[in-house]
Amino acid sequence: MAERVYINDVGPRDGLQNQAKILTVAERIELINSLLEANVDSIEVGAFVSPKAVPAMAGSNEVALGLNGQQSQAQFSALVPNLRGYEMAVESGIRTVAMVLYGSDTMAEKNVRMTPEQAEQSALDMLQRSRDDGVAVIATIAVSFECPFDGATNPDRVREITTKFLQAGAERIVIADTIGAANPSDVASLSKSLVADNGAEQIACHFHDTRALGMANLYAAVEAGIRHFDASIAGLGGCPFAPGATGNIATEDAVMMLHSMGYDTGIDLNKLLVASDLAETLTGSAPGGRSKPWLAPYLAKGKAV
Ligand code: COA
Ligand code: ZN
Repeated sequence: MAERVYINDVGPRDGLQNQAKILTVAERIELINSLLEANVDSIEVGAFVSPKAVPAMAGSNEVALGLNGQQSQAQFSALVPNLRGYEMAVESGIRTVAMVLYGSDTMAEKNVRMTPEQAEQSALDMLQRSRDDGVAVIATIAVSFECPFDGATNPDRVREITTKFLQAGAERIVIADTIGAANPSDVASLSKSLVADNGAEQIACHFHDTRALGMANLYAAVEAGIRHFDASIAGLGGCPFAPGATGNIATEDAVMMLHSMGYDTGIDLNKLLVASDLAETLTGSAPGGRSKPWLAPYLAKGKAV
């Protein structure tokens, strides 16, 4: 049986937060439903952040409430920067929260106006609460490879944060190349050391494709044993507080590569292309996966990847 790789689609959060066009709650739910149709394992559905900081994520409570009662096996998560966001997320029915930790000082300041230590303390406070509430926690380490302000990130810092937060009870740590500056050698090296430290099950990777190295980085992480990845439908994405960063690796490209390498993602690629088309239509700016012009006619002939 094919080995399983798990995809978390972050398009409805990481993707939509940075689009010129702000989608309505109904459109955001429509996009999430199209990902559910394609059988995506888990989806980051929104962010409980200041609407002044990220206007496109306003109404994430309505998105989450609108999804409640969905007959779905998928795991929905939402980004929370502080206890207030945590409480709003849980009140809206979110059972997995995504917190952000920082590989650099300036990124923490730009993103949440905190020092990395304050962001860690905020995350530890939320983790404490999550235990009582039975809520799962995913922690993303932003700028794990390079920060647009502070330069290269020390891998030892990422290793220390990873171990600390796994020990504190996080379900998974996501190593994020927020600005798409990592190269496959660095990804292989950091991934191997994290897998050696903690095993692979609780480590995930999140790549942006700014320098066209997203798929190569995905490959390097897979080879190092990582089996959990973030990706974004139609390659949507970017961070409003990280200048120059473009979208995440497109989910359709990642899935095509993984399937052709013999891995199983559980995802229906035909239906994923429907979701990708929808993301392009709704936003008017999603680039669409690089594989789409080849993939769509190929699948339309009834062939499988
Ligand atoms: N959800 C909604 N609103 C929130 C909030 C939350 N989780 N936390 C704070 N706010 C509101 C406050 O009530 C205040 O509103 P007001 O101006 O109407 O009074 C405003 O946001 C600012 O709050 P303050 O506590 O002074 O925080 P700040 O200005 O230092 O901003 C954050 C800190 C964390 C709230 C803000 O930087 C943020 O939301 N960042 C998210 C960034 C992000 O999502 N980046 C991309 C993903 S990595
Ligand atoms: Zn990102």
